[in-house]
Amino acid sequence: MSEMVLDRSLILAAVRVTEIAAIAASSLVGRGDEMAADQAAVDAMRTALNEIEIDGEIVIGEGERDQAPMLYIGEKVGLGGKHKIDIALDPLEGTTLTAKAKGNALAVMAWAPRGTLLNAPDTYMDKIACGPGVPPGLIDLDKTPAENVAALAKAKGVATSEITVCILDRPRHAEIIAAVRAAGARVALIGDGDVAGVINTADPDTGIDLYLGQGGAPEGVLACAALKCVGGQFQGRLVFRNADERARARKVGIVDFDKKYDLHEMVRADAIFAATGVTKGAILDGVRLKDGFVHTHSLVMNSATHTVREVRMRRPA
Ligand code: FBP
Repeated sequence: MSEMVLDRSLILAAVRVTEIAAIAASSLVGRGDEMAADQAAVDAMRTALNEIEIDGEIVIGEGERDQAPMLYIGEKVGLGGKHKIDIALDPLEGTTLTAKAKGNALAVMAWAPRGTLLNAPDTYMDKIACGPGVPPGLIDLDKTPAENVAALAKAKGVATSEITVCILDRPRHAEIIAAVRAAGARVALIGDGDVAGVINTADPDTGIDLYLGQGGAPEGVLACAALKCVGGQFQGRLVFRNADERARARKVGIVDFDKKYDLHEMVRADAIFAATGVTKGAILDGVRLKDGFVHTHSLVMNSATHTVREVRMRRPA
């Protein structure tokens, strides 16, 4: 166990924040307005964070200060106090999913002691992830999809045809998708939401064994915080498309542009991870209005103890 551990009294406070953001976003489900849904979640999350006795600093947020009026990188949140916390958040992970009323949209946040989360720039990241229970170092970004699928199948004692790989449905992934299928494995394509895609590898009920492909680097840090709580393996490498993205990376302290990060380099101390479903997904139900109450379904996890709590909340609507 790492020495830097957050007080467990923060667990309920953390999940309350994602609940409030999810409820705010839920009023925009299916309304075709991604910006409004995101804004509702951002406003609600910021208000909730500012009611808590933490000395919080956003390290993964809505963007840099000039692009994001709220929850920007470097913004201080909370009432202050002894808990000095790095915050990674995505008030609405899956803005398009929400606007189109599709499954798997989440409000997500991770907390870790100050200075222990990778300050990932808002660029893409190549990612590979699998769940717990297989030998350390089994999967590797530098192996081919066929090699990773074969290694995972062997470790799980199943045929490669029984391995399912979750991949974002994007033209840039055409080669990976073809390679996975050629290796004999199944491909589960998702429209958006790779935080959920990565987390799903750790839950056998989802049927997902491996996550592969390029998604947002900030989402990579959030997914790592979750995997750190439940076990699993992750590697990520930042992808730079131009000089501007490299400059943004330099600004947040990245010096080695080719570095392959593992989970414990992205989240360097014990973390608390909270997620609330906005729309129904493989693990979490979405926000529902029923009998005059609003119902939420969340996960809140502590990597220090590997405690996973599933929280169902209801309150008068
Ligand atoms: P948003 O909620 O910000 O729209 O992100 C959704 C998402 O699918 C992430 O889960 C993923 O990491 C990223 O977008 C992929 O980016 P792109 O849509 O550019 O392929």
